[in-house]
Amino acid sequence: MDARTSRYHEVYARWLRDPQGFWGEAAAEIDWIEPAKTVFDAKDGVYGRWFSGAVCNTCYNALDRHVLRGRANQPALIYDSPVTGTKRTFTYAELLDEVKTLAAVLKDMGVAKGDRVILYMPMVPEAVFAMLACARIGAIHSVVFGGFAPKELATRLEDCKPKLILSASCGIEVQRVIPYKPLLDAAIDLSSAKPEAVMILQRPQVEAPLIAGRDHDWAALIGAARKAGKTADCVPVLATDPLYILYTSGTTGRPKGVVRDNGGHMVALKWSMKNIYDVDPGESWWSASDVGWVVGHSYIVYAPLFHGATSVLYEGKPVGTPDAGAFWRVISEHQCVAMFTAPTAFRAIKKEDPKGVFFEKYDLSKFRTLFLAGERADPDTIAWAENLLNKPVIDHWWQTETGWAIAGNPMGLGQLPVKHGSPTVPMPGYDLRVVDDGNKELPRGTMGSLVVKLPLPPSCLPTLWQADDRMHESYLAEFPGYYKTADAGFIDQDGYVFVMGRTDDIINVAGHRLSTGGMEEVLSAHKDVAECAVLGIKDQLKGEVPCGFIVLKAGVNRPVAEIESECVGLVREKIGPVAAFKLAIVVARLPKTRSGKILRGTMKKLADGETFAMPATIDDPAILDEIGSALKGKGVGV
Ligand code: COA
Ligand code: AMP
Repeated sequence: MDARTSRYHEVYARWLRDPQGFWGEAAAEIDWIEPAKTVFDAKDGVYGRWFSGAVCNTCYNALDRHVLRGRANQPALIYDSPVTGTKRTFTYAELLDEVKTLAAVLKDMGVAKGDRVILYMPMVPEAVFAMLACARIGAIHSVVFGGFAPKELATRLEDCKPKLILSASCGIEVQRVIPYKPLLDAAIDLSSAKPEAVMILQRPQVEAPLIAGRDHDWAALIGAARKAGKTADCVPVLATDPLYILYTSGTTGRPKGVVRDNGGHMVALKWSMKNIYDVDPGESWWSASDVGWVVGHSYIVYAPLFHGATSVLYEGKPVGTPDAGAFWRVISEHQCVAMFTAPTAFRAIKKEDPKGVFFEKYDLSKFRTLFLAGERADPDTIAWAENLLNKPVIDHWWQTETGWAIAGNPMGLGQLPVKHGSPTVPMPGYDLRVVDDGNKELPRGTMGSLVVKLPLPPSCLPTLWQADDRMHESYLAEFPGYYKTADAGFIDQDGYVFVMGRTDDIINVAGHRLSTGGMEEVLSAHKDVAECAVLGIKDQLKGEVPCGFIVLKAGVNRPVAEIESECVGLVREKIGPVAAFKLAIVVARLPKTRSGKILRGTMKKLADGETFAMPATIDDPAILDEIGSALKGKGVGV
């Protein structure tokens, strides 16, 4: 626990002196069909490309090479599903067999290198097979989280135009079975881009009706491929070819298609498993996220498999499946040495079992570290988890765009002292700065925009799907020479990073990233709504939840409660239950500046019960009293 005994400073300085040498060495951990002649080509792509010209295959590095080198019988994937009462272990050889067979099916369906395949899947092993099968044949997968509504899925279909969609008959939310097929069919109806085919994994909880000519039964196709002895080999791809597209919330209703390449992604993720997470090949690791999120992509599927570790795939919740001891059971049963989840999961456990009664029942002697990310980790929750576990609890900061940690406490290099509220220090690859609006660097301890000096390290997005201009506009234009993280924060005198919040209208609800702008677009479409503002307000469990203020059109005299409930329903229908939009409040007016800008910051402080100074530019201070009373009426704020 001593800054002097950690190798971090030495390793970071080595990277800063010679980034290409650093990543060139890290690349030796990957099996290349043809290695790169240039580690970084500054002239390629929007801001340069890593490993240009190299040829590789991601699936080979995740599976084949481990089978060839002695890990055939080691568990690769452990599926643990309290919601279905199922547990299954796949060795590396078994996982490879599943993936090879599914890849052959995809090929037979006409999917070829560069084609897009959408996955709308629950947390079942077949989702992992599908991601790896796409990687094997050079197809580009795009996983869409199951909690999104048809319209969100349709937007993604429209943007990436998949040849094929892979889905399942249902997802299971604790006790509730959610049929996926009606959502999928509705999305395909809404989208002008239609897939040629759909493959449905029928789960026993609910059978999905199949549309003749378009829909195929997953098990039947796999069965036929097995009978015919069909398998597919790895297709060589360029390191710079896309491995996947993952859509994430932008500032409007139109999500951004974050592109991940093959080569840089493998190099950075492989490096991170030992150096950040201190996991060794052969050890068991658990990331309690969802394959629909970036954490699931990187740390349920790809990184542990590149590393030859065992990864747990958990279909359940931190509480309620069946109790607040679920996480301890999984860690102990599968002998996990480390786990990764969002702080909200620990807040849920803390709320239900504050004294850790369930914790006492399990043997966690193999467990070394708890990693948290996805939202700001509140010091209370960290302290509670530290006390309970008596093990390091490590906050780290990253984004869908980066695919791995921007800042963290690199346990494999030797732990640095923990400061609650800080995700510790920038990782090698990230030259992190704090700047003001004029792109001028700010002194230590001063809040500003967190930006990364270009180029971004391997694994970070090279661009947005078929939108180089939007990539430039969204991330590179505002602070020339830097990547805009859109997070605000500061770096203290010891070089520790503090991430305090977003600079745009993205909010973080239970570790899920959502756009308030997107929700406002939905509310504005309601026939009675004249204008609206959606803000993220503090929530004990989810960190933040959205709250929508609505001004009605003149002459509307229907019951307000009815309109509020319609608005709640509309966001659920158009964005999905994951938005957790449950608070719509009709108000007479919104507080604005004299130039007409809605005073969101002030409204948020009011809702959060914080003190605030009356903005000098406010048009009419009386409106804030009206907002305060409306919030009180709903039991929110002071
Ligand atoms: N398919 C369909 N619906 C889903 C879904 C899925 N895959 N995932 C969530 N939902 C639904 C939930 O059922 C819930 O619906 P409801 O409003 O009808 O109750 C809604 O979306 C909100 O879900 P969630 O945010 O998960 O809240 P919750 O109250 O069900 O659970 C936690 C709260 C804290 C237990 C839960 O958010 C959790 O485990 N979070 C872990 C964080 C995480 O995985 N983060 C990912 C990035 S690391
Ligand atoms: P996502 O792209 O969904 O992973 O969300 C990324 C955003 O989540 C970041 O831009 C931050 O705003 C927030 N975030 C993620 N990890 C942390 C963290 N450790 N501390 C503070 N904010 C975080």
